[in-house]
Amino acid sequence: MERIENSEVAEELIGRGYSRRQLGRIAALLGGGLALAGNAESVFAQQSAKAVAGAVRIGSNECWTGPLPAGAEAAMLIVAQGNRYEPDDEHAKLFAAVSEVEGVPVDRILAWPGSSDPLARTPITFSSPKRGIVTADPTYESIWRTGAWIGAKVTKVPLTSDYRHDVKAMLTADPNAGLYYVCSPNNPTGTITPIEDLRWLAENKPKDAVLLVDEAYVHWSDTPRAAQLAVERDDVIVMRTFSKLFGMAGMRLGLTFAAPELHKRMMRYDGGQVTNMLPMTAVACGTASVPLAAQIKARAAQMVSAREMAIAHLQKRGLKVIPGSHANMFMVEWKDRTPKEMMAALLGQGVQIGRSWTAYPQMSRITVGSAEEMQKFCLAVDKVLMA
Ligand SMILES: Cc1ncc(COP(=O)(O)O)c(C=O)c1O
Repeated sequence: MERIENSEVAEELIGRGYSRRQLGRIAALLGGGLALAGNAESVFAQQSAKAVAGAVRIGSNECWTGPLPAGAEAAMLIVAQGNRYEPDDEHAKLFAAVSEVEGVPVDRILAWPGSSDPLARTPITFSSPKRGIVTADPTYESIWRTGAWIGAKVTKVPLTSDYRHDVKAMLTADPNAGLYYVCSPNNPTGTITPIEDLRWLAENKPKDAVLLVDEAYVHWSDTPRAAQLAVERDDVIVMRTFSKLFGMAGMRLGLTFAAPELHKRMMRYDGGQVTNMLPMTAVACGTASVPLAAQIKARAAQMVSAREMAIAHLQKRGLKVIPGSHANMFMVEWKDRTPKEMMAALLGQGVQIGRSWTAYPQMSRITVGSAEEMQKFCLAVDKVLMA
C-alpha cells in the first residue's frame, strides 16, 4: 500500500493548496491507522444513539426490522465459504444486479462499506482549502465535519420555504466550490429536491466541480432518481446505502454511481483497501435484496403508513410537523418543550427519539418504526404532554 505522504498524490494535494500538516490529517483519516482512533473519530461519528434496553428505538434512522429474508438467507449461506476472500465473483454479481435494477452500467458502480466512506472520501478528493463544499442547512452533517477537518470552506444554505435544496442559492453562495452536496430525500426533513433542480445545478456549477447526490432514503420516494444523471454526466456522483430500507446498517454496504474517472480519483486515497475487501455476507445479502422490487415497495409502503398515522396523531395534538417527508423520518416541533426535554421525557416512557438540528433547534427528528412502535410513541407523547 502506498502511503499518501510519500506519493505523487501528496504533490497533487499540495498543488491544490493543502499544507503538509493537512496532508497528515488526510492520511490519518483514510487508512492512516492510529490517528483514526483519536480526533478523526468525530468525523465518522455515526448518528446511532446508544441502545436503551427495552426502549422503542426511533432515534437513529435505522430500519426497524432486519434485512429482507432472501438477503439474510444469502448472507447465512455464504458464511460457510468464509475461508475465501471472494468465493465466486461476488462483487461482480452485486454490480450486475444493481445495474439491472438501476440502469447504471457496471463500469459506473462501486461498492463500499456503507456510504460514510464515500461521503468522507468525496470532499477529500474534490474539495480542498481552495475549493469549498456547499450543502443545505439542515442536512446530514457528516460532510461538514470532514470539510472542517481538511480545512475546506463549508457553505451552508437554508432550505427553501417548502424544504427543498435551494440549488440556485447554493451556487450563488459559492460559485467556485469543488463539491456541491445534495441529500434527497434530505436527512432530517425527508423532503425531496426535484430532479430538474439537480440537473440545473449539474449544468450550472463549475465544469470541474462535482455534484454529489446522497440518495440514502430514495426507496421511500417514487419521484425520479438521480442515478440517470450519473450515467449521462461525468461530473455527478450518486450515493446509495443498504443501511436504511434494506435493514443492513450493521452489515455495512453502500454504492456510488459515477464516471470511471471520478471513481479512479476517489480510489487514490487507499480506496482499494475498502472497496475490494467488503464482507461477503454484506455483498451476498445486497445482491439477493436489490432485485426484490415488490418486497421493497411493500416494506416502504408499510413504513409510510406508520409515518402518516404518527404524523396525523401529532397534528391532532396541535403540534407542527414539517410536511412532505419521503423517508423513514420526520421533524416535529413540541410547542413549549425543548427537544432535549422531550427526549428525556419520552425516554422515561420507554421511547428513544432523535435529536434536533442547529437550523431547527425547536424540532426533534423522529425515525419511523413499525406500526406498533409508532403507536407506542403516540401514546408516550400523549402521556408526556398531559403530565
Ligand atoms: C443521508 C445519509 N447519508 C449517509 C449516511 C451514512 O450511512 P451508512 O454509512 O450507514 O451508509 C446516513 C446515515 O444515517 C445518512 O442519513
